[in-house]
Amino acid sequence: MAGENLTCEKIFAMEDEYGCHNYKPLPVALSRGKGVFVWDVAGKRYYDFLSAYSAVNQGHCHPRIINALKQQADTLTLVSRAFYNDQLGKYEKFMTELFGYDCLLPMNTGVEGGESAIKIARKWGYYVKKIPKNQAKIIFAENNFWGRTLAAVSSSSDPTCYEDYGPYMPGFKLVPFNNIQALENELKDPTVAAFMVEPIQGEAGVIIPNNGYLKKVRELCTKYNVLFIADEVQTGLGRTGKMLACQHEGVRPDIVILGKALGGGVIPVSAVLADHEIMDVIKPGTHGSTFGGNPLACAVATEAIKVLLEEKMVENAAKLESVFREELEKIPKNEVVTVRGRGLMFAIDVHDNLPADEVCLRLRDAGLVAKTTHGQTIRLAPPLVITEAQLRDCTKIIRSVFENFKN
Ligand SMILES: Cc1ncc(COP(=O)(O)O)c(C=O)c1O
Repeated sequence: MAGENLTCEKIFAMEDEYGCHNYKPLPVALSRGKGVFVWDVAGKRYYDFLSAYSAVNQGHCHPRIINALKQQADTLTLVSRAFYNDQLGKYEKFMTELFGYDCLLPMNTGVEGGESAIKIARKWGYYVKKIPKNQAKIIFAENNFWGRTLAAVSSSSDPTCYEDYGPYMPGFKLVPFNNIQALENELKDPTVAAFMVEPIQGEAGVIIPNNGYLKKVRELCTKYNVLFIADEVQTGLGRTGKMLACQHEGVRPDIVILGKALGGGVIPVSAVLADHEIMDVIKPGTHGSTFGGNPLACAVATEAIKVLLEEKMVENAAKLESVFREELEKIPKNEVVTVRGRGLMFAIDVHDNLPADEVCLRLRDAGLVAKTTHGQTIRLAPPLVITEAQLRDCTKIIRSVFENFKN
């Protein structure tokens, strides 16, 4: 197949015929990426306003990350955790010092990070909090999204995610997001080990809690001796204008889950951060992953974080938030109901009389790729390397699509 020039139509047809239909992609077939741009097989250029669900915060094919990948790929890629490798300890030291936790558990995908955090919390519940055997509960927020495993769908309130995948994982309970009273009612139960929450709910449509919610979550978790697990897989690593979204409220969770952009848009890398008192419930042989902590992932993740820091991408996301909001708010109110976001993580709710999927097709035609989440919401999350001029160009494209939209 190498060297064969495939048309968009042929690419769509092959995926349709030979692939599992677990996604409904926007009809665009991409073959190249650089910074904020992606190109389709016909050579047309688009601004990427999805950033692979925020896994490409550093921009496509960042030269430093690709160089780290190539160098490490030429040297040593995988030995498993049966042996030490010369990259993992260095990476763990770097990450724990940067984020201020005692230790790091290396995994691969975001959902594995979530699974691992819950396993740690359950063991902590039994060993430290002294919850009776097999009775530990984990509380989640409604409309959470943390992946596709059976545990993740067992904690989901979205029927598309969980329906017909039962029986479900016991010991999970949901409370409304952004509702402190409902959370406190649950946390009083002495068998609760942890509350796991996204600081801003991404997949749900960039739902931002009230100011002070995370602070209150922290206080309640401390009061009731419950672990506060922050799922920063999507919100983390600069996306919201801070390294971690919890930092907007100066809050330190007991466990932080990172993923997506930790792999620099190149390979799956996730991590769980916690202090010894919590992490040390995991003993040799009680948890693991063949690929977790592989030298290739460690080298890529280290460079991915250095690039974010040294090229001031977090600051760029913070700086551009007001431009993004002001420009999006110029879209006439009869077309867009609400605009919300933090940093470079935005969403617009499209008015009911305007099909959001069709809006995405028009955006594509105008040179910008974005995707709906939950029907009428369009998520807008460009790579953090976007410049102000590029962002203004993009908001002009978005506005003109809305202004010229005729049903
Ligand atoms: C907040 C959050 N957590 C976890 C995940 C799962 O990550 P992955 O798809 O890498 O398993 C996602 C994916 O979208 C996410 O948004």
